[in-house]
Amino acid sequence: MKTTSLNNDFKEISLNKILPHLKTTTIGRHFKYFTTLDSTNTYCKLLAEKNCPEGTIVISEEQTKGRGTKGRIWSSPKGSGLWISILLKPKITTTDISKITLITSCALYETFKKLGINSQIKWPNDMLINNKKVCGILTEANIKENVVNYIILGVGINVNVSYDDFNDDLKPKATSLKIEANKEIDRCYVLAIFLNYLEKFYNQMINNSSLEYFKIYKENSYILNKTVNIVKNNTVEVVQVLDFDLNGFILVKDLNGIIKKISSAEISLRI
Ligand code: BTN
Repeated sequence: MKTTSLNNDFKEISLNKILPHLKTTTIGRHFKYFTTLDSTNTYCKLLAEKNCPEGTIVISEEQTKGRGTKGRIWSSPKGSGLWISILLKPKITTTDISKITLITSCALYETFKKLGINSQIKWPNDMLINNKKVCGILTEANIKENVVNYIILGVGINVNVSYDDFNDDLKPKATSLKIEANKEIDRCYVLAIFLNYLEKFYNQMINNSSLEYFKIYKENSYILNKTVNIVKNNTVEVVQVLDFDLNGFILVKDLNGIIKKISSAEISLRI
């Protein structure tokens, strides 16, 4: 395990370059850096079981078995993305777990905005730029007897990933900050800004002190007020997205006019 930077052929992530921008009190204050890991989420879970403090962040220059949602593989090439996991220990109920993904989307939205990049939040766990995926969120909760012990918040941001790094399947649907901004982006700066926003919205959520994040979420949603295909349990349903509730569930109207709440599904826009 390394907590300092290594010399490499890419501009490596180092605490020295993050700290000048980091304004948090908890999130990111314990920093575990690796050049390679199977999955930062898997490693972060080990740390959680060893009772590491809330806010611990695991970051790796590459992942050999990066995990996406629905058991998919998350492509994590060396030195070009932010592949991170954050240990959170919120005192929340199991129905509130999806709020963690919701506030994370808002923190990512604000981070990209600060870089001059406009993005959209695609419920439940994607960030899009110009209709292409730039970032994915994998929120994994440890629950015992209906109590949330801890949450591993995994975030993969394609920062300086090049078009050629994406496999043929991903090429038409994935993008990176570098591709969109047409320049190399400082990963340490992006990380610090993201952690600052994350802590801000996390505190708002935990303390019930503001719904600023919820406003951001709705204003920048990719699916709100649209007719979409919902894929769930191998069936496809056409619905209109009417609203979000505070837990991050969607309210939809199906073709028979029936209104229902959905906690998680895969969504595609109808063209
Ligand atoms: C998705 O869109 O399917 C979610 C992707 C989440 C990827 C991140 S990268 C860091 C963390 N470690 C993992 O193994 N996965 C998450």
